[in-house]
Amino acid sequence: MSIWHQRWDENRIGFHRSEANPTLTDHWAKLGHESSTDVLVPLCGKSLDMHWLIEQGHCVTGIEFVEKAVVQFFQDCSVAPILESRNEGTKYSTGDIKIYQADFFQVQPDESPFSAWYDRAALVALPPSLRTQYVDQLRKLTTPDAKGLMVTFDYPKEEMQGPPFALSDDEVKELFAPYFTIERLQFTDLTEEEERDLSRCSLSVFVLTRR
Ligand SMILES: C[S@@+](CC[C@H](N)C(=O)[O-])C[C@H]1O[C@@H](n2cnc3c(N)ncnc32)[C@H](O)[C@@H]1O
Repeated sequence: MSIWHQRWDENRIGFHRSEANPTLTDHWAKLGHESSTDVLVPLCGKSLDMHWLIEQGHCVTGIEFVEKAVVQFFQDCSVAPILESRNEGTKYSTGDIKIYQADFFQVQPDESPFSAWYDRAALVALPPSLRTQYVDQLRKLTTPDAKGLMVTFDYPKEEMQGPPFALSDDEVKELFAPYFTIERLQFTDLTEEEERDLSRCSLSVFVLTRR
């Protein structure tokens, strides 16, 4: 069982927010996506950000490998999705939202390639050893001109064992600069606010544009 299955099993989902994330609502419009654009949400959990994107007119495709998270997402909004069994897992569909209950690294959604994506607590949820694979899979699932919003978290690595795993600016550059232009939209020092005992801690929001 993965640490994520265990966390969902034990309801240790402190990352889940009870409303749409301000990093999304404050910045999404700056990406300039048409409301008809389908948005990929990797490692989506049962995030309410997906509802916010739908309210903006988008169709959303989430990918999440824990069944409980996917089931709760639909239960919480009282919607009965259609289930389709596939090689990689199960596809849950309603009109404007599809969630693939599957490993992000294995799945090839019918809706791909996407020209838009939103990563909050996705890349930083993965151990550093999977980061290159994450970027490769993201490139596989997106169009050559795709644009996404990514929220990251940084702190001195020796002070905490993730998730969330610290992701420094240098690491963002190393991972994405060969394939994407990188623009930072927000930097927030969270050192005072964070309950974790970290000597330094910050959140950044980036726009990544494939090139
Ligand atoms: C930190 S949570 C963030 C969830 C969501 N993005 C949010 O903002 O609430 C990370 C999620 O990724 C899921 N996950 C981790 N590894 C995954 C993988 N390889 N494929 C699909 N989902 C994965 C976990 O089960 C967990 O729900």
